[in-house]
Amino acid sequence: MTTSSQQAVSKDTSTCYLNGEYLPLKDAKVSVLDRGFIFADGIYEVIPAFAGKPFRLKHHLERLHDNLNAIKIGNPYTEQQWFGILNDVISKNNYVNTDCSLYIQVTRGVAKRDHVFPENSEPTVFAMLNPLPPVNPAVLEKGLTVITLEDIRWNYCNIKSISLLGNIILKQEAAENNADEAVLIRNGIITEGSSSNVFIVKNGIIKTPIKNQQLLPGITRDLIVEIAQQQNLPYEETTITEEDLLSADEVWLTSSLKEVSPVCMVNGKAVANGQPGAHWRNMYKLFQQYKSSLKQSN
Ligand code: PDD
Repeated sequence: MTTSSQQAVSKDTSTCYLNGEYLPLKDAKVSVLDRGFIFADGIYEVIPAFAGKPFRLKHHLERLHDNLNAIKIGNPYTEQQWFGILNDVISKNNYVNTDCSLYIQVTRGVAKRDHVFPENSEPTVFAMLNPLPPVNPAVLEKGLTVITLEDIRWNYCNIKSISLLGNIILKQEAAENNADEAVLIRNGIITEGSSSNVFIVKNGIIKTPIKNQQLLPGITRDLIVEIAQQQNLPYEETTITEEDLLSADEVWLTSSLKEVSPVCMVNGKAVANGQPGAHWRNMYKLFQQYKSSLKQSN
């Protein structure tokens, strides 16, 4: 029996990249002995591309490189080669004037199942593209809803591992509670969302957790910090407790897909007056200005 999700994949004729070849997504196949499949032994990246132009690409490729190093997979390509592959995926899918999100995955490759790293496996390299609709206007108007959950994940959350079981279990729990995201708490301290970084605003100061092994160094997070610095907006990279979150004047989530989105409900209670706040409005405007300045620079 073929399920509807299998049917959707079997009809997907978008062009992807797999190990040196461009081919329809529906025809892309990897071995069942790929260590990505057997052990989730790999790294991934999600990169938005606006009007065909990958956003903060150097930052994403640097993070990919650092993450591959961290798990001892040699980066299969130079930065120039990655640029070439991603631009090919964009143009072969006719996304040169449209927004999309690029997905890259590199695994340790195919080998007989053994926990120890194989000595000479070739990394499996895959890249695909998905449409990137604009952030839902209802989110910008009414904000997101989140719940707090205990951060049950491993201790290297700074690595963008394809092993996302902890993250998806948490996101699913949020979804089953009619929430858009789970904000994660370890020992009373906010780490991040299940697929986003967290900011709060208190008394006019923008705050986000310090980067450490408990959270992903988000490219969007870093851009928000950079914008705050450039605009002389008061900000702090600091420890944020669950109480800080619950008594914040504003809460924001950032990611390559959410950009910077306001949160108006935490654990069923309104954040301040339950409306997206003035600091978020200002940051959202600055973020959009940054995006359009990049579009015009090419
Ligand atoms: N996730 N934290 C986690 C756990 C994430 O999965 C993500 C992004 C972020 C934000 O990182 P960035 O700003 O670099 O997108 C933080 C992507 C979008 C995903 O898994 O689909």
